[in-house]
Amino acid sequence: MLEIRKLRKSFNLDRDNILVVFDEFNLNLKANTTTALIGPNGCGKTTLLNLISGNLKSDNGTILLNGIDITNEAEEKRSIQISRVHQDPSKSVSLNLTVLENLALADKKGESFNLYRLIRKQNRDRYMDLLKSFNIGLENKINEKVKYLSGGQRQSLSLIMASMKNPNILLLDEHTAALDPKASVVVLEKTKELIKKNKITTLMVSHNIKDALRYSDRIIMLDSGNIVFDRPSISIKESEILDIYKEKLQEKFAS
Ligand SMILES: Nc1ncnc2c1ncn2[C@@H]1O[C@H](COP(=O)(O)OP(=O)(O)OP(=O)(O)O)[C@@H](O)[C@H]1O
Ligand SMILES: [Mg+2]
Repeated sequence: MLEIRKLRKSFNLDRDNILVVFDEFNLNLKANTTTALIGPNGCGKTTLLNLISGNLKSDNGTILLNGIDITNEAEEKRSIQISRVHQDPSKSVSLNLTVLENLALADKKGESFNLYRLIRKQNRDRYMDLLKSFNIGLENKINEKVKYLSGGQRQSLSLIMASMKNPNILLLDEHTAALDPKASVVVLEKTKELIKKNKITTLMVSHNIKDALRYSDRIIMLDSGNIVFDRPSISIKESEILDIYKEKLQEKFAS
């Protein structure tokens, strides 16, 4: 469903300094699976998500979605099929709009519309049901500006918005990293439920190995832009992954 072929991405740090994050990078994601993407800070996880979402342009290589070449497609156009929740709870929502207005906007992604006509009773009831399903009282905040919500409430809203239009792919970049343990479990369980119900192919970045294993079918570790590990999650223990991390860190300090 998602196929990345020979992708290259570099950043020009200054006049004589180029950082090559990916070179000849390949990845295939099967439809209706959840892949956890792990790896040390700076290994390229967010950059990869940016390349898939179209937020960054690759230097070379091809990205195919359901066999269609989307490599040069604009981020806005891709966003209809590729949804994303960022690590920062402020990034995936419009802070100065209310919960209701944010939901209405996500509901009409990619279409022309009049926001205020959208917020009809019929839609409002549907949005209320979605908010209630999280069980954290979000439905009582439907007319509140999103800037007054907590991080957990914002991420729950971001997740509802990201899954509303039934995307092909959901990109999650450490989307529970800023949440307390209870809110993190709520958001992760809801993530799992939404992915399953809507059959969304998901790529989930996490530094939490337990969560990565529990909520994925496949686990991939990146190190300096290379896949160093790619296994079904069911076949691997947390301790094995921690050992690989240790090994990688020792190599880094030794070099
Ligand atoms: N816009 C940019 N300009 C220059 N360098 C960048 C840019 N974006 C990312 N990088 C560099 O690319 C490398 C990969 O960064 P990236 O953000 O993808 O890492 P990451 O795996 O998401 O790390 P973390 O776990 O800390 O979030 C890093 O060395 C980073 O400094
Ligand atoms: Mg990152």
